[in-house]
Amino acid sequence: MNRHPKLAFHPIDALRRSFRAKVILISIFFMLITCLSLTGFFVYHQSASLNASLVERGGLLVRVLAHSARVGIFAENPELLENPVDGIARQKEVARVMVYNANGDLIYASADRQGASGPSDANSSQNADIGEQLYEKLSASDSTVCFSSPDALQVWSGVFSVPDYAGTEALFFEENKPPEAKKVIGFIHLKIRKEKLNSQVYGFLFKSGLIAVLATAVASGLIFLVINNLMQPLNRLGRAIKALGEEDAAETIPVDTEDEIGRLAIAFNELSGSLRKRRAENFQLEMQLRQAQKLEALGTLSGGIAHDFNNVLSPIFGYTEMALEEIPENDRLYNNLQQVLQAAERARELVRQILAFSRQGESRRRPLHVQVVIKEALKLLRASLPSTIAITEEIDESCGPVFADPTNIHRIVMNLATNAYHAMQAQGGELKVALGEETLTGADISRLSLDLVPGRYVKLTMSDTGSGMDDETLQRIFDPYFTTKPLGEGTGMGLAMVHGIVKGCSADIRVRSKPGKGTLFQIYFPRAESDTDPDQYVESPLTPSGHEHILLVDDEVQVAQMLKQMLEHLGYCVTLFTDSRQALEDFAARPEAFDLIITDQTMPHMTGEDLAEEALRLHTDIPVILCTGFSEKITEEKAKSKGIRAFLMKPVLRQKMAETLRVVLDHSEK
Ligand SMILES: Nc1ncnc2c1ncn2[C@@H]1O[C@H](COP(=O)(O)OP(=O)(O)O)[C@@H](O)[C@H]1O
Ligand SMILES: [Mg+2]
Repeated sequence: MNRHPKLAFHPIDALRRSFRAKVILISIFFMLITCLSLTGFFVYHQSASLNASLVERGGLLVRVLAHSARVGIFAENPELLENPVDGIARQKEVARVMVYNANGDLIYASADRQGASGPSDANSSQNADIGEQLYEKLSASDSTVCFSSPDALQVWSGVFSVPDYAGTEALFFEENKPPEAKKVIGFIHLKIRKEKLNSQVYGFLFKSGLIAVLATAVASGLIFLVINNLMQPLNRLGRAIKALGEEDAAETIPVDTEDEIGRLAIAFNELSGSLRKRRAENFQLEMQLRQAQKLEALGTLSGGIAHDFNNVLSPIFGYTEMALEEIPENDRLYNNLQQVLQAAERARELVRQILAFSRQGESRRRPLHVQVVIKEALKLLRASLPSTIAITEEIDESCGPVFADPTNIHRIVMNLATNAYHAMQAQGGELKVALGEETLTGADISRLSLDLVPGRYVKLTMSDTGSGMDDETLQRIFDPYFTTKPLGEGTGMGLAMVHGIVKGCSADIRVRSKPGKGTLFQIYFPRAESDTDPDQYVESPLTPSGHEHILLVDDEVQVAQMLKQMLEHLGYCVTLFTDSRQALEDFAARPEAFDLIITDQTMPHMTGEDLAEEALRLHTDIPVILCTGFSEKITEEKAKSKGIRAFLMKPVLRQKMAETLRVVLDHSEK
C-alpha cells in the first residue's frame, strides 16, 4: 500500500530523471569508444608490421635456400640437399622445409616440427600438389609467393638454372642465338609457424586493452568528479527554484563562477529578489485593500446606525428643551432635565464622530487655506498642553488651498495632537507640526504606498517623540473603538474619525512608528486650484454656517464645551475662555483676531454685560451676542443701548444660534 520510495527505485527511471547520470554515461561511452578504437588501430598496425617482417624473413630464408640447394635440386639428390635444407629447418620459427623438382615431385623434406601444421596440411605436403596457377607464377619469375593462414605462413619460391651453363654449348652450335632464358629446376616450400607472432599480437592486444580499460576507468572517475562539481550549482539552483515556487522565503544562491552557470545564478538571484520585492508589495497592497474594505464596511454599518440614532436624539433634545422652558430653574426637575440634555449632547458628539468616520457627517468643504486653521489649533494646544511637551511648527504660509471643511481640519490636528500628548505624557517630548506643498509622482506614490494620483499636494506632518507603536497596534489604529488606553481615557474613535475625514477629502494618511521611537503621521491633501469657483460650494441654506473666529466665554465648563462644539460644527473657529477676565485680556491683546464675541451673562468677577462694554471700548465694531438665563434681569433695550447686537436665551438651540450668528455677522459686515 504505502510504497517506500527507496523500494521503488528503478535505475532506468533514475537515469531518465538525472541529467548528471546522462552526461556521465554519455561521456564514459565516448571515452570507451575512443580508447577502443585507438587500441584496435594500434594492435592492427602492430600485427601488420610483425607479419610483414615475418614475410620478409621467410622470403630471405627461401632465397638463401634456393641458392644453396640449387645443385642438389638440379641433381635431384637428397643427400646433397640434406645439409642446406636442415640448416634452414633448424631456424626457430621454421616448421618444415620441402623441396620439389621441376615436375613438382617432392625430393626432400625436413622433419615435421611439432605444432606447425594440422593433419590435412601434412597430407598435402606429402602429395606436394603445386597448383597450376602457382606453378605458372613461380616459373615466371624468381620472386617468392606467400600464403598466410592464421597459424602459419607458407612461402614458395622457384629454383632456377643458371643460364651460363647452357651458354657454352650455344657458342658451338648457334652463333647468334641469344642466351637461353632462366629455366625453373625445382621449388622450395617453406612453412613458418606464426605461434610467436600470434602470441606477440595477443600480448599487445592484452596490454593495450588493459591500458584502454584503465584509462577509461581513470577518465570516468575524473569525468564523474568534474560533472559532479559542475552539477552542484545547477542542483542548488534547482532546489532554490523549487523553494521559490513553494514558499515565500527564496534563498540567495552563492555565485562562485563567472561562467554560464554563474550568470544563471546571478540571474536567478535577481529574479528571486524582484519576486520577493513584488511579493512584499503585493502583501502590502493586500493589507491596505483589506484595511480599506474593512473600514468601508464598518463605515457603512456604523453610519446607518448613527443616522437612526440621530433621529432618536432629535425628539429628546426638542422635548427636553421645551420642558426646560416651562420649569423654573430652582426646581429639582430643571436640574434633572439639564442632565438629560448633557447626556444627549454627549450622545450627539459620539454620533458626530461616527458619522465623521463613516464620511457621512455634515461637511462644508470649500477651498481652504489649512494653515490658518492649523495655527489656530496650535494656539489652543499651546495653552492646554503641559510645558514638558515642546511644540515646534514649520508651517509654510504660502501653501495653496485644499478642498476641506475647516472644522474637520481642526479636528484632525486636535486628535493627532491629543494622541501625541498621551504618548509623551510620561517623559515629555517634542510635537512637531509641519505643513508644506509637495509634488508627488507615480513613483513617489507607490514608494509611499499611498492611495492617490500624481499631482500637487499639501502635506501635513505631525510627529512626536513618544512611546510609538508596534506593528500589531499599527495595523488597527484606524479601526473604530480600537484603543490601547484604559477605560475612560480613550474612546478609540479619534483616528477612525481622522481617517474618515481624510478619505472624505480625497486625501490619504500615512503612519510610521516604532516602539520607543515615536510616531509620524503624514496627510496628503490634494491641492485645490486657487481659482476654484466659490459658488460651486455654497453651503446648505437650511443651517447657515460660517468660518469666522469667535471668542466664546462661559464659566460653566460643560456648557462652554457644548457651545464650542456647536459653533465648530457650524464651521466656525472658536477660542474658548471659562474666565471672563482672561477672555478680556486675550481680546485686548489682539482685538483684530476676532470677528465676534459670544458671552454668558452670569459669571463671577465680571458679567457678560461688563465684558461686552470693555470689549466694545477696545474695538467699537466687534459684534457681541449675550446668552442669558430665563430669570436674568437684563432687558433687550438695555442691552442694545450698550451695543450688544443680539440675545440668546439659554439653553441655546443650534438652529437659532446658527441663524443669529449669520444675521449679526452679515449685518456687521455691511
Ligand atoms: N502618536 C501616537 N503614539 C502612540 N500611539 C498612538 C499614537 N496615536 C495613536 N496611537 C494608538 O492608537 C490608538 C487609537 O487612537 P485613537 O483612535 O485616537 O483612540 P484613543 O486615543 O481614544 O485611544 C491609541 O489607543 C494608541 O494606542
Ligand atoms: Mg485619540
